[in-house]
Amino acid sequence: MKVSWLLLPCFFLFAWGETRYYDFIVSSTPYTRLCSTKKILTVNGQFPGPTIYANKGDIVVVETYNRAQYNITLHWHGVKQPRNPWSDGPEYITQCPIPPGGSFKYTIILSNEEGTVWWHAHSDWSRATVHGAIVVHPQLGTIYPFTKPDREVPIILGEWWKEDINEVLALGLITGADFNVSDAFTINGQPGDRYPCSKQGTFRLLVEHGKSYLLRIVNAALNDEFFLAIANHKLTVVGTDGAYTKPLQAQYIMITPGQTMDVLLEANQPPNLYYMAARAFSDGVGVPFDNTTATAIVEYSNYTLPHSTAPSPIYPQLPYYNNTLAAFNFTQRLRSLASGDHPIEVPLKVDTHLVYSVSVNTFPCPQNSCGGPNGSRFAASINNISFETPQIDILDAYYAGIRGVFRKNFPSFPPYIFNFTADSFPMVLEIPKPGTKVKVLKYGECVELVFQGTNLVAGEDHPLHLHGFSFYVVGSGFGNYDPVKDPLEYNLVDPPSKNTVSVPRNGWVALRFIADNPGVWFMHCHLERHLSWGMDAVFIVRDGESPDERLLPPPPNMPRC
Ligand code: C2O
Ligand code: CU
Repeated sequence: MKVSWLLLPCFFLFAWGETRYYDFIVSSTPYTRLCSTKKILTVNGQFPGPTIYANKGDIVVVETYNRAQYNITLHWHGVKQPRNPWSDGPEYITQCPIPPGGSFKYTIILSNEEGTVWWHAHSDWSRATVHGAIVVHPQLGTIYPFTKPDREVPIILGEWWKEDINEVLALGLITGADFNVSDAFTINGQPGDRYPCSKQGTFRLLVEHGKSYLLRIVNAALNDEFFLAIANHKLTVVGTDGAYTKPLQAQYIMITPGQTMDVLLEANQPPNLYYMAARAFSDGVGVPFDNTTATAIVEYSNYTLPHSTAPSPIYPQLPYYNNTLAAFNFTQRLRSLASGDHPIEVPLKVDTHLVYSVSVNTFPCPQNSCGGPNGSRFAASINNISFETPQIDILDAYYAGIRGVFRKNFPSFPPYIFNFTADSFPMVLEIPKPGTKVKVLKYGECVELVFQGTNLVAGEDHPLHLHGFSFYVVGSGFGNYDPVKDPLEYNLVDPPSKNTVSVPRNGWVALRFIADNPGVWFMHCHLERHLSWGMDAVFIVRDGESPDERLLPPPPNMPRC
């Protein structure tokens, strides 16, 4: 086994960068898509929301004003926020929501993130329209580990519902049935010309032959993983989740909600119009999904319209929507850059082993009166615990020692061991236990966490996201994780550094991280339907010994519950 570059500690406890200020005004704004107009929640009236620009190590202060009629919180997805969970954002986990008319100053502490991370609402399903990119440039005086692109363009993938998103959420929760799927996908807020009334706004990326473009791709969708490709152009992935990768050439990418990918596009094809297309990767048998395709147009600058016929862009090939292997094969090829300038530090000695099974479940309903399978209500769980959101946020309860909000007995292993990936199960295994339980970690311990997908109700790919950390994805495979054989195949040399990992359908993923960030940190499936059903867990990382290993004090004016 080759040992990777060992350098740099995870977090710098002093800030060397600048402080940048943004004002975010949340309000309801009318938007027209798919031939009709509705009000959506936006930041500064924009959909997608404004891009935040910073350099590595900066601090970004976002004054957030809630001028909408809903509670709101904001989360800075992929920002580790060393010692500062107070500004992390998940509603009832690390803060009480900002009420209508209220405001809150978020302090976003960047440390080793470099590349693209993003921000989104973390209350109800508001993040459907309340989201945007965070571009983290190299520190002044340092450069990209690749040839500087001629231009950089955020590409934000999302969904559009004709209904009000709160009604989609409420209906699913009332009936217990699955949530209505979206009516369109969007690229930078636009569905593209395959949808009715959408030709006009289609996002166009104007390129010049011979130049290169850095696409900062964010999957901000609630419930859909995407395959994305550009006709006749290779994509070169150079970063993901705010960390550099070895350049990876691909015909298509697969990106889950929560993930970001920095992709170089060389405009090296004959001047023409080319489609960029994104459609769902959805591999759960019988699981409903939006089976439409969003498009944008890559348009070469010196392309001249043929006068005889209407121009029609060249269309790319995308894997079939349920092609589990196409998704897995792409994801498997990602590697950390792990160079002298961008070293990584993969923990080789594990202190705490955790195995978390992730399942879709059902709760029985009286007289089988609910809208889920056989009259049940959909649920989801981690280690058979279906997370119940508390009334007071867990961070406040932990900090102030308020009892009765959560319990510290989250199981380290699945409570029942069975063939997780079997074709059928006894009914009773489908039913989880509701609860608000956390796993407490010691400061500085090395955690190996294995996610085990199960085939309960319907096996499918799950994008699991951890707040407060990046982790190394050291192994992954199909079937049941084997604690003896599988670790022999781990990549401890250049595993990708991620904050959101795809757990393959009926498969597993192993990751490692050092618990060196004291605080309360949410972990959940980044498919919003699964998050709402309870596929969530919480880590509390205790303070270390020295003052710079302790939780920062709460800022003034935290919203109250
Ligand atoms: Cu994008 Cu709780 O996260
Ligand atoms: Cu999931």
